[in-house]
Amino acid sequence: MALFGRGPQGDMLDALIDGIRGTGGRTVLVLGAPGIGKSALLAHAVTHASAAGFTIVRLFGEPARSDVPYAGLQQLAHSLGGNPDALAEPQRSALAMALGTGEATVPDVFLVGLATLNLVAEAAARAPVLLVADDIQWLDDPTLSLLAFMGRRVQKEPVLLLGAAREGYRGRLSADELTTLTLPPAVGRRCRIAPVRHSPRSSPFGPSPSAVRSRGQSPCTDRVAHGRDVGPGRSRWPAAVDRAA
Ligand SMILES: Nc1ncnc2c1ncn2[C@@H]1O[C@H](COP(=O)(O)OP(=O)(O)OP(=O)(O)O)[C@@H](O)[C@H]1O
Ligand SMILES: [Mg+2]
Repeated sequence: MALFGRGPQGDMLDALIDGIRGTGGRTVLVLGAPGIGKSALLAHAVTHASAAGFTIVRLFGEPARSDVPYAGLQQLAHSLGGNPDALAEPQRSALAMALGTGEATVPDVFLVGLATLNLVAEAAARAPVLLVADDIQWLDDPTLSLLAFMGRRVQKEPVLLLGAAREGYRGRLSADELTTLTLPPAVGRRCRIAPVRHSPRSSPFGPSPSAVRSRGQSPCTDRVAHGRDVGPGRSRWPAAVDRAA
């Protein structure tokens, strides 16, 4: 999808991706209002990294699963693949417990972290890794701890941990060592991409992305020349963006 009005942010992520072999691990958190284009920017990074030969690993938070321990890790493990049998036994068992395939139910979080880190490092030895965590405001706490643990330790490996969260998110990943990229409305020649309005009382982070879509809200206020609103029923994206989407 062609990104509209996000040249600087797209270029910054492209440069991080292109330089990751030299810089070693980095962690970037994209912040912004609902509908402002965080996932769209992540998709841009995925396209760029895929073309550069990266292994792409994805996970995302969901309101309904934010209280399910390691729900995010399950997605990560499924997306990453790898060979847990090659891990040292305590790590293998801890990972199995976290994924619900082991015998005990409360795994040692440090061992789960080490196991995940080793699987990611093993993948990164073959090709750089882009680990994309979207909607992290709804990721479960153990998975967030794990991502923070990994972010601090992938200093030498070519791993870019790229997260996105709604504005107001103050979680484990918003530490000082992160690069934070706050998205303002994207203003272009014919269209202004602005946040989706919502009542902050309904949920601290607003409606889920699917709820935003089902309400048919557009992230684009789209005032064309002379400040006139584009009428209902007409596309709110510039033609080039509509074609690309
Ligand atoms: N810069 C852009 N150029 C073209 N389309 C865009 C751009 N930004 C966002 N969009 C489109 O607007 C819609 C909302 O964007 P997106 O889902 O990325 O927002 P978001 O910030 O991730 O929202 P949420 O907080 O609900 O997850 C999507 O259909 C997306 O493709
Ligand atoms: Mg999104």
